[in-house]
Amino acid sequence: MSEQPDVVELLKQQHRQIRELLDEVGDSKDADRADAFHRLVRLLAVHETAEEEVVHPYARRHIDGGDQVVGERIEEEERAKVVLSELASLDTGAPEFHDRFIALRQDVLAHADAEERMEFAQLRHTTDQRGLETLARAVKAAEALAPTRPHPGTDTAAKNLAAGPVAAVIDRTRDAVRKVMGTS
Ligand SMILES: [Fe+2]
Ligand SMILES: [Fe+2]
Repeated sequence: MSEQPDVVELLKQQHRQIRELLDEVGDSKDADRADAFHRLVRLLAVHETAEEEVVHPYARRHIDGGDQVVGERIEEEERAKVVLSELASLDTGAPEFHDRFIALRQDVLAHADAEERMEFAQLRHTTDQRGLETLARAVKAAEALAPTRPHPGTDTAAKNLAAGPVAAVIDRTRDAVRKVMGTS
């Protein structure tokens, strides 16, 4: 039995963390909500970017109907990123935040569910254990190298905020993943 989780286990584990954080944001308020939301932004940015750089391109080539299945998942991710960016520009205590967050939550949950049923289940059948572990290593490397929250008062933080926190985390994660994959 291998100690290395395969990519499907790893991504499903991240989906569970995403579901927990969505609940935490929904159930908390004030500073706790702001903190939980920042953690959610980072986790979603890291998770979706790793999927887009590592897992989706592989699935597109290897699973039945890959183009359509993966194409639909990427469209869902693009929509979620737009809403996430809008949310990140709002105060987490604002009334608009609440309504848009409910919509984001539904979209993200439906997206994760569709990935698990239509994409990941097939990956298990088309790819051997070694292949699944190799993909997991690339996803983990992306996670390890992705930026954490910017520190207030630093030059980088100012630049990150100017570019929008969501876009900044996604860009930096993508650079890190491409370095690991040797595609930069
Ligand atoms: Fe995704
Ligand atoms: Fe996912």
